[in-house]
This record gives sequence, C-alpha cells and structure tokens, in this order.
Amino acid sequence: ASNQMWGGRFASGPAAIMEAINASIGYDRKLYAQDVRGSLAHSEMLAKTGIISADDSKKIADGLKAILKEIEDGNFAFSTKLEDIHMNIEARLAELIGPAAGRLHTARSRNDQVAVDFRLWVKDEFHRVAEALKGLIAAFVERAEEHAATVMPGFTHLQTAQPVTFGHHCLAYAEMFARDLSRVRDAIVRMDESPLGAAALAGTGFPIDRHMTAKALGFREPTRNSLDSVSDRDYALEFLSVASIAGTHLSRLAEEIVIWSTPQFGFVRLSDSFSTGSSIMPQKKNPDAAELVRAKTGRLNGHLIGLLTVMKGLPLTYSKDMQEDKEAVFDAAETLDLMLAAMTGMVRDMTVNAAAMKKAAGSGFSTATDLADWLVRELGIPFREAHHVTGRAVALAEEKKVGLEKLTLEDLKSIHEGITADIFSVLSVQNSVKSRQSFGGTAPAEVRRQVRYWKKRLAKA
Ligand code: ARG
Repeated sequence: ASNQMWGGRFASGPAAIMEAINASIGYDRKLYAQDVRGSLAHSEMLAKTGIISADDSKKIADGLKAILKEIEDGNFAFSTKLEDIHMNIEARLAELIGPAAGRLHTARSRNDQVAVDFRLWVKDEFHRVAEALKGLIAAFVERAEEHAATVMPGFTHLQTAQPVTFGHHCLAYAEMFARDLSRVRDAIVRMDESPLGAAALAGTGFPIDRHMTAKALGFREPTRNSLDSVSDRDYALEFLSVASIAGTHLSRLAEEIVIWSTPQFGFVRLSDSFSTGSSIMPQKKNPDAAELVRAKTGRLNGHLIGLLTVMKGLPLTYSKDMQEDKEAVFDAAETLDLMLAAMTGMVRDMTVNAAAMKKAAGSGFSTATDLADWLVRELGIPFREAHHVTGRAVALAEEKKVGLEKLTLEDLKSIHEGITADIFSVLSVQNSVKSRQSFGGTAPAEVRRQVRYWKKRLAKA
C-alpha cells in the first residue's frame, strides 16, 4: 500500500528495509507529550487567526487529549509504517475525529514540528539537570561544612604536595558543578525560541501568529529565521557538550573516590548502598558506582562527537540525517541523570576517615613549603635560597627516616644557623592549613567563610 501521508505521488509503498532505516518511532515516541502540546498550540492558533474553524480546532484538541491519555495508559498502538511520532499521532487523530484531523497540518511541516518538539524536550531536560546539579552542589557544601578543618594531603602529580582541608577539596567540586549549572542556564536562554511556524523551511502564506504559539509553549519569543529554525540543532549540541563537561567533572571525582576508597589510601568508605561485593573474594568492597560514573563519561563524549559529525556536512536546511539527533540526546540525558543521582548519593553517604587523611597529610614532607616560607619571613632569606635550605632539611630527614617536625633543633641549625625553635610551629599540618588564609585558600576559617557564601548562593539558585 502507498503511504497515507504522501501517497498521492507514489504508486507503491516502501521496501521493508526502507521502512526499517527510515523509522524513528522506536525512540522519538519519547516526544509524544511535546508533540501533543505543540499541536494543541498550533491548532488553537489556526482557529484564532481564522485559518481553520473553531469547531475543527475543538475536535482536534479533544482528539489530541484522548491520544495523550491513550499513550500514557499504554493503550496506543505505535506503528513503524507510520515512521515517527508525528505521523503516528496524526494518523490516530484521523481515526478518532475524521476529516478535521487533516486540517491540523495546515501551515506546518514535520520540519518545524520536530524542531519544536525536540526543543521542548531538551529544555525540560536542561531544567532537570539544573536541579540535579543543585542537589550535588548542596551535598558538597554540607560535607565541606562538616569537614572544614579535616586535614588531608593536597596533591599535584598525585604526589603529596601541601596539606589542605577536605572541606576545601569538596568546595573545589562545588565550583566545578556550579559552572556546569551556569552553562545549563546560559544554554536555556539561547535556545528559548520557538521554531513553530517556520513550516518546511520558508515560512508560510497563511496568516499565522508565531508569537502566539511561542507564548503558549512557554518560549520567550519565536525564532527569527525560518531556514535556521528547521536546520539548527546546536541546542542539542550544547546539551551534549554541557553533559560531556559535567561528565568530565563527575569522572574526575569518581576517579578520586576510587583511589580514596582503596585500603592503601583509606580516606573514605562508601556506604553499603553505594558499593558492591565480590563473588569470590569475601573481603572486597568495590566502588562500582564510581567506576561506572567514570566509564559513562566515555558514552557522553561519544554522543557529542557523534552528533557533531552528523551535523558538520549538512547544507541548509533540513536533511534526514538530523533524525539521528534524538538517540544521542536521549541516551546522554538518561546517562547524565543517573550519573548525577549516583554521585550525589555517594557524596552524601560516604564515611570520611579523618585520622587516615591526617596521617597521610603529614607524610611526604608536606610542610616543606611552610619551612621555606618561615625562612623567608623570619630570616629575610630570598625564597629561592630558602628552597635550597629546605631541600637539604628534607634530604636529612629522609636520611634519618623521620618527618620534618621530628628533626632536632641541632639538625636544623646544622643546615642554617639562623633557625630557632619557633620553626616547629609551622611544621605541623594543622598549623600549615591554618596559615593559608589568603582569599580562596585552604584555611578552615576561609573554608567556613566559603561555606556561608555557598549557602547564600544556593538559596537563590
Ligand atoms: N522523524 C523526522 C525527524 O526526526 C521528522 C521530520 C521529518 N521531516 C522530513 N522532511 N522528512 O527528523
């Protein structure tokens, strides 16, 4: 049989394989609610502008609402023959209300229809991600408040660098996820325009009111260029890039959790609800959720590159290639939602082993910089020279197999005669972090100040 939508020009129907490669109903059925919403707004506008009768518009609206209910109740028969969600719904509408259904598509094309549906969906997802990010940031702010003075080693090159506080480390992640949140918000502002009424590509001769449909659908305004309206997918690319960047942050955090939860580090213990055991080794507690967050970031990156590659060679305006935008975005959205939820759970639930952190913070001569700074401050030695003197102290401590704070005053005097007992006050990790009160530094007082800042900011976010 020939196609019921464009059968006029066709003598025979498509090959089965054509139908299989063409159909998107398997995944774009996810857009059913947006499709009904878009059609309701369109049909109401068509009636208001006198393009169709109020009576037909009423029939269309009733039919669409009945279809929405059928889909939500699981009573809708989706058909691959009808290709996509738009034609599935329209065909069912014709069954339900007869010829009036044929008037819904006046002054509209599937090109602007799919563009408006997808924008509505991506916009909702952006809002979901924003909420999830806020939850994750709040979790970090809580852990930071609790651990403003918990000392841990700070690393560069994953080598012990200087002592920091765990609260400070938590707030580093609050910063990253807050930038992701601001990227989400920026993207929403850019995409908040309705493409409905661009029609196939050139606009329409019917006296439609695009401002009316834009408003009805909750968009700030209609898009300004009909060609761009049906060929643009950069809001989807922005979603995927925001997802990839947030994924990168989540993955680095996941990697730290994997390292921290090893028996060798022992900085944190994941709750039973966010870890798994081994089927053979009874002692094991594995950070599977963190590992999967790390792995799923690869999937997000893949989707971004995938859609960039789909779009890069397309001439204006619509090409069927663009149908491939949906699976990438749907899967990335589902993946990111899950990653954010799992990470928020892990961060909220994990037990922090402050003693293990403190012990590690004092190893690896982590206060060497404090020693050098003391030489600069108290003896007026240029920093470069102080660096050398301190290096000799580290070498001596290494030789004696003790920490810097366990060197005797005689040991230290043998390295530089100006050194006094006062130097021991800067060699403890506690005093080291306490001294770093510069704006944005790791001192507990500064971390507490930042916690107050975040609480205020989150209350407004
Ligand atoms: N299923 C199509 C898509 O997802 C809808 C638009 C079809 N438009 C067209 N001119 N064939 O892109």
